[in-house]
Amino acid sequence: MVNKRTPIIAGNWKMNKTPKEARELAQALVPLVAGVKDREVVLAPPFTALSAVAEAINKTNIALAAQNLHWEDKGAFTGEISAEMLLDSGCRYVIIGHSERRQYFGETDETVNKRTRKALSKGLRAIICVGETLAEREASKVNEIIGRQLAGGLAGVTAADMQSVVIAYEPVWAIGTGKTATPEQANDVHHFIREQIKALYGPETAGALRIQYGGSVTPENVSTLMAMSDIDGALVGGASLKPESFAALVKFT
Ligand code: 13P
Repeated sequence: MVNKRTPIIAGNWKMNKTPKEARELAQALVPLVAGVKDREVVLAPPFTALSAVAEAINKTNIALAAQNLHWEDKGAFTGEISAEMLLDSGCRYVIIGHSERRQYFGETDETVNKRTRKALSKGLRAIICVGETLAEREASKVNEIIGRQLAGGLAGVTAADMQSVVIAYEPVWAIGTGKTATPEQANDVHHFIREQIKALYGPETAGALRIQYGGSVTPENVSTLMAMSDIDGALVGGASLKPESFAALVKFT
């Protein structure tokens, strides 16, 4: 079967770049990826740089993402940010449940679920991150962990809403470590994710779902990852912080 899913390459800038630096990076990127039509390009700067990047990528083929959102609409939630604020800043996507949030900021499958449902109800597309730690992999618990993260994170999400969901598989042990999962290791988990989605939503939704890989993706290894049957994109940290390397990733062949 021909894979008709549009590849999606997203740069997660994490806690890097002031608004000025972010604007410059985005401005440098725009001409480098301007001709790219057959794949989606997404940038996720920190909150303070969203507006600057939105301006820089206005009317281009690059979409804007935030790195988190809160599930309430407004109110006394110091330090949080709402879906409406993100939409107003020009976001089309939001990353939810990144492993760094799960590890350091108490994110759970339940809070991932609340954020996901809020994002989708407001018309934001959700990039939901799942992934196992090294200890979990060594204990042969990959499927158990990923299955739980998917079922928990997607509870109450309808098949119609799944059209606005991207799943990012990011093995924790591969993030920022230079240790990429082998294309086969990654594809095995991607295949498992698609099977889980099939069980939850049926073959049509599963077939259309885009699953990104994340964890030490570079211009050097992106092509072999993207050649795998169930890998539909990349969620890139370190290599997204320089215009040339991110553009090279976007233009993988
Ligand atoms: P690195 O590409 O720096 O390993 O980060 C991956 C990641 O966490 C993207 O969300």
